[in-house]
Amino acid sequence: MNETVVNRSSPKRLDIRSSGPVPGTHAALGDEVTVHLHPQGIPLFVTPVTERLKSDFSAVHAWFVEHEQAIEKLLLEFGAVRFRGFPIKGREKFRDLMAHYPSASMGYKGGGGPRAVVAGRVMEATRTEKDRYIPLHQEMCYQRQWPLKLAFFSNVVASSGGATTIGDIRRFEAQIPQRILDEVRKRGVLYRRNFRDGRVPTQGWSGQLLNIHRPWQEAFFTEDKAEVEAACEAGGLEWKWLDDGSLQTEIRKSGFVTHPVLGTSHWFNQISNLTALPKSAKHWYTLTPEDQRNGGRYPNAVLFGDGGAIPAEDVEILRQIEVKVVVDEPWEEGEIMMLDNVLCTHGRTPYQGERDQLIQFLGAGMNE
Ligand SMILES: [Fe+2]
Repeated sequence: MNETVVNRSSPKRLDIRSSGPVPGTHAALGDEVTVHLHPQGIPLFVTPVTERLKSDFSAVHAWFVEHEQAIEKLLLEFGAVRFRGFPIKGREKFRDLMAHYPSASMGYKGGGGPRAVVAGRVMEATRTEKDRYIPLHQEMCYQRQWPLKLAFFSNVVASSGGATTIGDIRRFEAQIPQRILDEVRKRGVLYRRNFRDGRVPTQGWSGQLLNIHRPWQEAFFTEDKAEVEAACEAGGLEWKWLDDGSLQTEIRKSGFVTHPVLGTSHWFNQISNLTALPKSAKHWYTLTPEDQRNGGRYPNAVLFGDGGAIPAEDVEILRQIEVKVVVDEPWEEGEIMMLDNVLCTHGRTPYQGERDQLIQFLGAGMNE
């Protein structure tokens, strides 16, 4: 690319093949920060070196605004840029720091995971139970519109675990067997989802079951069915109300997307994230036999676009590729990590203790 590209071949700076993460300067980011790559290739870390950027939030804010284009180009190259060592304390500072980015107009309407809005467009990253592993995925790629970029903020770090894992989609898709790529290309992907009626009693349900089987009132931020229907229409979802008061939606997608800036085609679906496999007891989407006895059912089905089942063995192959590409780097308090939502997948490891992790969606793209 151009001058904003980190020189990966210079051993003094960023040659991950030979020297590991050696900090260096970067012309487009100026001399107030250094950059270095994680030994696994992503993320690119950006760290302040001047007292000003280490201690003065207003200076940091100005720096972020001034370097928006440089950060943009780094995101296109690496997919993940992590800002470590800046004085960013509290949810409001995170909100303020990203205020110059456009919002994702669809918000989190109809989103699959449990989370709450806390300040403006700042949301909790997830309320998924602490002991669950969330596999790598691209955010909301089962919707017509999805966020172009994600910004995560580590407000309170868990006492152990709780990393936001990431994975380079270009490394991931390079390892998918051709026959699986071909099958998804040919048949597409159908997401069939069920949102329960939040007024129906759930005595005996575990926290896990309550989390994954969301009420439509919560997922669509309204009690009004007409508003839900309008949101479904706007989101390109087919919908119907079932006898138990729950809402079923369906949407078909190609399973791939063209990157809006690069023009390259990429794997873009949640086949491995939304499928429960018997082996994956700590997977975010696995229900215990007790949950199932209590009437719990899986609210998401991911099928081929023609309604055919996706073989569990193929889902397992995708999970095994994830193990090879996943980067599990612990958070430091006050860190921000920005991701290109096509080029970099994200997930979460189980954790202990308190954790306050926040997210903002920046900009919106159209699905295919
Ligand atoms: Fe996510």
